[in-house]
Amino acid sequence: MPAVSLEQIASLCKRRGIIYPGSEIYGGLQGTYDYGPVGVELKNNIVDSWWRTNVYERDDMEGLDAAILMNPLTWNHSGHEETFVDPLVDCRECKSRYRADNIGTTCPTCGSVDLTEPRPFNLMFKTQVGPVAEDNSFAYLRPETAQGIFVNFDNVLTTTARKLPFGIAQIGKGFRNEINPRNFLFRVREFDMMEIEFFVAPGTEDEWHEKWLQDRLAWWQSIGVSRDRISVYDVPKNDLAHYSKRTYDLMYAYPTLGYEEIEGIASRTDFDLGSHTRYQDKYDLTAQVKPNADSTTRLSYFDVPSNKHIVPFVVEPSAGVGRCMLAVLCEAYDEPMVKVPDEGRLKVVSDGLDAFNQSVSKNEKLPTDLRDGLQAFGESIAQDIVEKMPQINALLAMPGADRIQLGKKLRGQSQKVIEDHYRTVLHLKPHLAPVKVAVFPLKRNDDDLVSTAKNIRRSLQVGGRIRTVYDDTGAIGKLYRRQDEIGTPFCVTVDYETLDNNTVTVRDRDSMDQIRLPIDQLSAYVREHVAS
Ligand code: GAP
Repeated sequence: MPAVSLEQIASLCKRRGIIYPGSEIYGGLQGTYDYGPVGVELKNNIVDSWWRTNVYERDDMEGLDAAILMNPLTWNHSGHEETFVDPLVDCRECKSRYRADNIGTTCPTCGSVDLTEPRPFNLMFKTQVGPVAEDNSFAYLRPETAQGIFVNFDNVLTTTARKLPFGIAQIGKGFRNEINPRNFLFRVREFDMMEIEFFVAPGTEDEWHEKWLQDRLAWWQSIGVSRDRISVYDVPKNDLAHYSKRTYDLMYAYPTLGYEEIEGIASRTDFDLGSHTRYQDKYDLTAQVKPNADSTTRLSYFDVPSNKHIVPFVVEPSAGVGRCMLAVLCEAYDEPMVKVPDEGRLKVVSDGLDAFNQSVSKNEKLPTDLRDGLQAFGESIAQDIVEKMPQINALLAMPGADRIQLGKKLRGQSQKVIEDHYRTVLHLKPHLAPVKVAVFPLKRNDDDLVSTAKNIRRSLQVGGRIRTVYDDTGAIGKLYRRQDEIGTPFCVTVDYETLDNNTVTVRDRDSMDQIRLPIDQLSAYVREHVAS
């Protein structure tokens, strides 16, 4: 079963070193997150899968890694200086700031209706370039990687001799000064983007737009994001970005948030190359572009059949790595029961939860939306406490839960029961798993067991790119649980039989089945099972 709330994921991420709030020891910086030891592996594996599928496995793609800082003229001619804006409103009462389209007519913080008129706020961060602050010594932190591709179109074309259709893929940081960063990794101010600009002959863009939609849906499925939880939204004409003639937004059913954009697939016409090219009036551009007297280079393509230079059209699949990782974690998350709690222990937790739910419903000081959220979630757990007991952790992590006195008591009543009867497991696709194999000695104070386990770990790592770890910091059952929580497909235990006959126990994450394998077959076994 996938995650039922973002709190489940946020709490797992904190507990297991997947994601930390950015610069936490100084109180954090809103809209920034750091990827921890486990998170960086998961992120690298996601990015690696995207690159493999879109660059290595295709015949029509090149890669690029352009600079984050670009000449500001880029953002003038791309249209971002003028149009990359959100409507901002201030609350005159409590001075909070909001995106006008995220709130109604009242301030979500204090309830006042005394709000300013919306005014445009540009989302690009500015930074100074060089030691002297002068009016023109600034650059923007790029809000998308796409423009690095467009300005290099001619470089790539001339150095690779590509023919249309072909694409350029890039993964890198994007920055947006979001007015209200929120919902964990979903809306942040600094994030990684995976973008493709696919250049096609004018007139073929609709066909390619459909093809890319299918290719991208297939990739999402290959990384374990169920097709059932992605819906394709054909963005209405009046909501399209300034460069787009048609956009499909892939919307993922995030828990807590509902359907939200995970990837945009835009048909960008000849707007981008047309905006950045020299000699714009030599081409029959279809897009409305600003005159460009700054560009030094033609961004065109010599089309043999028509014997003339044309400006290619662009189809652009663009996805954020953070939103992708969040979806992957949500899909993989599971909290199955491993042993039914006995009646007595169940009743204690059940009574504690009922008391907590009642306390929530009576709490007049909680803002209504928080109270309603807590109440609905608490009651849904109470209806099926045997199956849903681990969700009490997510309930207690919800905003407002810390203001309910009985929360602490409920935590005390439920934690041990949860630990003894349920496990948290990430059923990640093996190729995405941050750690592929964990190796344990049955006893950490036996030198033979320890050195054999360490040797096995090292031999599995050698020559391969799979991450393997050694751990002896607890009893085997506890070590299994810890690896389940980060989605490690295999745990290998070295015991006394190993010393006798060179075999080990291999335990499967999903089924929890254990088999005995000779050490010399381990590497082939693991490689075979983690490849997909
Ligand atoms: N070059 C096209 C472009 O930038 P976009 O829809 O603005 O299009 C692309 O962004 C993707 O980047 C989105 O589908 C989303 O996955 C991700 N994204 C956008 N803004 C984000 C933010 N503030 N935080 C996290 N991810 C974001």
